[in-house]
Amino acid sequence: MKVYIPEEVGFCFGVKEAIKKVERELKKGGEVFCLGDLVHNPLVMNELCEKGLKVVSSLSEVKKCGTLITRAHGVEQSILEKGKEKGLKIVETTCPYVLRAHKIIRKLICESYHVVIVGSAEHPEIKAILSDIPFCKVSVINSSERIREVSEEKKIGIVAQTTESLDNFENIVKNLIEKRLKSGFEIRVFNTVCSVVIKRQKEAKELAEKVDAVIVVGGNKSSNTRKLVEICKKEGKKVYFIEREEELEFEKIKKLSSVGIIGGTSTPEKIIRNLERKINKN
Ligand code: F3S
Repeated sequence: MKVYIPEEVGFCFGVKEAIKKVERELKKGGEVFCLGDLVHNPLVMNELCEKGLKVVSSLSEVKKCGTLITRAHGVEQSILEKGKEKGLKIVETTCPYVLRAHKIIRKLICESYHVVIVGSAEHPEIKAILSDIPFCKVSVINSSERIREVSEEKKIGIVAQTTESLDNFENIVKNLIEKRLKSGFEIRVFNTVCSVVIKRQKEAKELAEKVDAVIVVGGNKSSNTRKLVEICKKEGKKVYFIEREEELEFEKIKKLSSVGIIGGTSTPEKIIRNLERKINKN
C-alpha cells in the first residue's frame, strides 16, 4: 500500500513556542498552572502534565503562588487580571497570529465598524477575543444561513477565527457582500485565518484527491484538525479520525491501495511517522 504524507506535519510554530515556554518555566521549579488545555491534544497535555504542569479549570483551584500560562489561542482578559491580583506570574503564550486578529478587531471597533467574526463562539480563541471587547457589538457566525443574525449596520468589518476553514470564510464573506453591500455601505474584510492552517487545509484537499482514504490524526477538541476531517470528507473520501496510533484498525485499511496521513497543528510528528511505519509493516 502506498502511504502519502504532506511535506509539513507536526506542530505549528505557535504550538512549538507555547510548549517551549511551559518547559522553560517547569525547569525553573515552582508550580506552573494552565487554565484548560494549553493546546488541544491529549498526548501533548499528558506529556506536559507528567513533567509537572498542572491543568486547572478555574483560578479558584490555584491556592499557592506560581506561574499561570496562557493558552496558545488566548485567555480571557478578566482571568488574567484575576491571576495578577492573586500574585501569579503570567507567562503569555498566545500565538502572534491570534494576537494579530485581536489587534485588527480592536482597530475596527475603534473605527465604529460592526465586527463579524467567522468562527465558533464556543472556541477559547473567540471567548478570549470577546472578553477583550466587552460591551461592543460583535456577531460570531459560522454559516451563511446565520448572516441574518448580523444587524443592518452601515460599516461592517469581517475577520475569521485563526483555525476557520478558508472555504467557509470565503463563502460567508461572498454572501455577506452580496446581501449587505448597498449604496453608502462599507464592508472591510481581513483574512485572519492562520497561514499554517491554510496550508494544511490545501494539503488535506490535495491528499484526499489522490488517495483511497485519509487518516486524520489530532485531538478531538482541536478545531483545525476537525476542519481537515471536513475537507477530506468533502472530497468524498473515507476518513479515519484518530487521536492516538492505537485507535487505527489496520484491518479496515489493509485492502486499500493508498492512504494519506495528515495531522492537526498540535499533533506530534512522531505519531504520523509511527503510523507510517506500522502501515508499511502490515
Ligand atoms: Fe498560531 Fe496558527 Fe498554530 S494561529 S497556534 S500558528 S495554528
